[in-house]
Amino acid sequence: MTQDRAAALAVIAEQVRACKLCRLHENTTNGVPGAGDPHAEYMFIGEGPGFHEDQKGLPFVGRSGDYLESLLRLLNLKREQVFIANVVKHRPPENRDPMPDEIQACRAYLDQQIDVIDPLVIVTLGRFSMARYFPNGKITQIHGQAKYDERRAYYPLFHPAAVLRNPDLGKSMEADFRRLPEVLAKVKELRGKISPPTPEAPQPEEKPTQLKLF
Ligand code: URA
Repeated sequence: MTQDRAAALAVIAEQVRACKLCRLHENTTNGVPGAGDPHAEYMFIGEGPGFHEDQKGLPFVGRSGDYLESLLRLLNLKREQVFIANVVKHRPPENRDPMPDEIQACRAYLDQQIDVIDPLVIVTLGRFSMARYFPNGKITQIHGQAKYDERRAYYPLFHPAAVLRNPDLGKSMEADFRRLPEVLAKVKELRGKISPPTPEAPQPEEKPTQLKLF
């Protein structure tokens, strides 16, 4: 199964790298499909690649990425243990906001990644990924408040770059992050109730061992 998920994600990544569905691929160095554990319980979704991400083809590898890694360490997690992706997969010029048609063009890639990984918690970083799940949400009002459906939780957080620009948000970002294990535990409980546990594989019949008397 790991193999299947990794292979499915690799196919999506290949399509992203070759994608010309919108203008964003022009003047970029690399597409940035996303990276991490195909079996991740947490999936983090940012906005779009910046300069460093475009150079390396990997998400969150600049200053925001360092900060995100420091937050993950609060939960004893490394970036390889989660999956990190973005709403748009090529760098918008001069790091401008992605436009609605660009987000729409990229949407299927992210949807497919979510289908393959089936994360228990989707953590949105910033307003563009938040808008997928909280269309009228205001980040200052809803950050750190999980919404649940039958498969997972959606958990809106400030964008790491916003916290770096405004360090006053740091305390609240850290507190929100520290609540993630609670959210994860609740989803596990909910999933346990919905999908009955898979029946145990039949055990091979135990052969009674003959006692050797002599
Ligand atoms: N900001 C994002 O939203 N995504 C990245 O990958 C890097 C910075």
